Amino acid sequence: MDIQQVMVVGAGQMGAGIAQVCATYGYNVTLHDIEEEHVEKGLKSIRKQLERQVNKKQISQSDMDRFLQRIHLSTKIRNSESQDIIIEAAVENIEIKKSIFADLDKFAPDHAILATNTSSLSITEIAAETKRPEKVIGMHFMNPVRVMKLVEIIRGLATSDETFRVVKKMAESLNKSTVEVNDFPGFVSNRILMPMINEAIYTVFEGVATVEDIDEVMKLGMNHPMGPLTLADFIGLDTCLYIMETLQEGIGDDKYRPCPLLRKYVKAGWLGKKTGRGFYNYSN
Ligand code: 3HC
Repeated sequence: MDIQQVMVVGAGQMGAGIAQVCATYGYNVTLHDIEEEHVEKGLKSIRKQLERQVNKKQISQSDMDRFLQRIHLSTKIRNSESQDIIIEAAVENIEIKKSIFADLDKFAPDHAILATNTSSLSITEIAAETKRPEKVIGMHFMNPVRVMKLVEIIRGLATSDETFRVVKKMAESLNKSTVEVNDFPGFVSNRILMPMINEAIYTVFEGVATVEDIDEVMKLGMNHPMGPLTLADFIGLDTCLYIMETLQEGIGDDKYRPCPLLRKYVKAGWLGKKTGRGFYNYSN
């Protein structure tokens, strides 16, 4: 199957990034969210990113205009009826994702692939909401989408070889490298990354070192581009907590228990960069 029409469901940080990359590499993109305000915000962030690339002379103004012309906005899930693939990047909540997939299954054409950018939830469980589980797959992009080279492709229990092949080819056409992963909580990326972040939070909680010094250890000692606490703020502490809960519940091992300090910050609404406060203060 030749993919031309791509719908991205969810116009937040990840959805907007995926839409931008797809438009850059020649796909016609429909960026969808439930509220007009959300899609407008997503488009605004894409425009801002592209303007930055124009200012750095990485792309020309006419490239930017061309990319933006390929992006259409949607607030009606019915618009999935003209798509070849739908990539869902909505909030990380299994009930919400299941409901989106049930709707997509009603409207999307029979040939369409339904992909999810979930960071840890079960592809198999999401696929079971549809009558096409062989066409449901995980397509996990990393943040920031334009910069990070990896797409983790996750096969649900029923995902067909053909679906896998088409999605891999599409990800490669976006100049990404892919890895093939089986459906298990957190897949590979977050199974390894999140316990490290959670451990860094325990290290703050137990007063072993300051936030800045913990980050410094991993940056200068291990050559990580960002310290784990900066990275947690960048990902969103609510997302980090949700992934740890998914690991703990899904694997059934308390070694994945979320640090109480992480819970406390999320309860306080300190969700990281997006709310101006997390392990660091972004109010300035
Ligand atoms: N959004 C979009 N692009 C960004 C960005 C942002 N927030 N921050 C930086 N960039 C871009 C810059 O525009 C620049 O692009 P260019 O090379 O085309 O000019 C490039 O990234 C490098 O930026 P800088 O030179 O200003 O800054 P750094 O060298 O410090 O790199 C970084 C920034 C790429 C974000 C780097 O710090 C990094 O790699 N951090 C780790 C990111 C990471 O681990 N991501 C995975 C998160 S986990 C995940 O996504 C899974 C999910 O399920 C939780």
